[in-house]
Amino acid sequence: MATSQASKTAAPAGASTAGSGGSGTLEIKDSRSGKAFSVPVLDPGTEGDTAIRAMDLRQIKLEADEFGLMTYDPAFMNTASCKSAITFIDGDKGILRYRGYPIEQLAEQATFLEVAWLLRHGELPAQKAYDKWVHDITYHTYVHENIKEFISGFRYDAHPMSMLTATVAALSSFYPEAKNIHDPEMRNISIVRLLAKVPTLAAFSYRHAKGLPFIYPDNDLSFVENFLSMVARMSEPKYEANPIFCKALEVLFILHADHEQNCSTSAVRAVGSSHVDPFSAVAAGIAALYGPLHGGANEAVLRMIQEIDHPKNVQSFIDEVKSGKGSRLMGFGHRVYKSYDPRAKIVKKLAYEVFEQVGMDKDLEIALKLEEAALKDDYFVSRKLYPNVDFYTGLIYRSMAFPKDFFTVLFAVARTAGWLAQWEEMLNDKEQKIARPRQIYIGPPERAYKGTLTNKFPRTRK
Ligand code: ACO
Repeated sequence: MATSQASKTAAPAGASTAGSGGSGTLEIKDSRSGKAFSVPVLDPGTEGDTAIRAMDLRQIKLEADEFGLMTYDPAFMNTASCKSAITFIDGDKGILRYRGYPIEQLAEQATFLEVAWLLRHGELPAQKAYDKWVHDITYHTYVHENIKEFISGFRYDAHPMSMLTATVAALSSFYPEAKNIHDPEMRNISIVRLLAKVPTLAAFSYRHAKGLPFIYPDNDLSFVENFLSMVARMSEPKYEANPIFCKALEVLFILHADHEQNCSTSAVRAVGSSHVDPFSAVAAGIAALYGPLHGGANEAVLRMIQEIDHPKNVQSFIDEVKSGKGSRLMGFGHRVYKSYDPRAKIVKKLAYEVFEQVGMDKDLEIALKLEEAALKDDYFVSRKLYPNVDFYTGLIYRSMAFPKDFFTVLFAVARTAGWLAQWEEMLNDKEQKIARPRQIYIGPPERAYKGTLTNKFPRTRK
């Protein structure tokens, strides 16, 4: 195969040419048939990403009635599923930007709801629009009283992510009109409702697990303060959140707000592409986030650190990871970042700020030793495994007295902003259709049914 900038050979009949405005063509010679094909290379994106349309390969076939060539890409290692203007990541250089703004600047200067607006609308909000946005989200934080009964039905030890997945899906039944996804007004109210109610449901799942009464939202408080109030308030008439904790949570929410086409976002887009309501689509995202290879990693990091138990055990743990016999070094490695995760840098600094307030402990010492040992070990260096955002977040959350199984819930509260922005972008993208990958079938060829059962409907009770 060779790419050519000069030749602009027209694609053969049937091939799509949309978006092929001058980046050249890919000349393909099929050694099976000896035939040559010309496939347009799409215009590069803002940062130079290029691709060919997978559909343009379908013209490559040996027989006229053949299906045509597909691409085979398990886990989507090299497939762009959409064009997106929301988040940019350069994994080699450790860059993360929302709508062009560097994550470092947003974490330092913006609020979470400002970032949620930015992700959705593409620009920073003007004051008037921001005031309305904050007002609307604040006034939609209450959930239907029946939701409380729904949550009370869970066992006392139910994982809060299971409760959150189920209750967000259940919201769809309270707002059946949300299925009118092509009505921009309806989309807006659904987005506001989700951003407003997910923190309430998250806090309720915490209170249920603790056997504590649910705390209703307090509309006089900011987004983060209200969340902390719903989680932690006891008998005090007015909850006053620790300002360091508020700042830390605001920053962590910003860092987790979006991360382009990751597993949970792809789940939201794929489920949303069936044109289901956004409550159901976001519930799918929460389910995807729950897994330990994704959002569940922050919980796994803390479990790992507690298992290591003492800084003196760090090296033997690293050796076990390297041998492949033990678990992976949780909080290390990333599908996209192959130098460092820019969020991890911010989180490490934040961890120090929080620990200054609440005091250092041995787990932080273990984390620092683990990081130091891994960063000078060829196993990790050669595989480009660096700390990811989750390496230090668990330590911060724990110092704020959140239980381990609640960490991923905090991630979900923040990521709701990104999922919704991505969901709406997908709906407004004329090129998108219902997500439906292909497969390479490797099962048996056609064969005749020859059953061997003598009793087709056995009863367990005689
Ligand atoms: N510890 C030890 N070895 C690792 C780790 C790790 N954390 N991550 C990858 N490797 C090794 C693999 O064993 C493999 O080695 P090999 O080439 O000798 O077989 C090599 O590095 C490549 O690993 P892959 O699994 O192919 O990398 P991939 O990009 O698919 O995985 C992932 C990325 C899932 C994040 C992985 O690095 C991992 O499991 N990390 C630990 C879990 C974690 O922290 N997840 C959070 C991700 S961030 C987020 O979702 C918010």
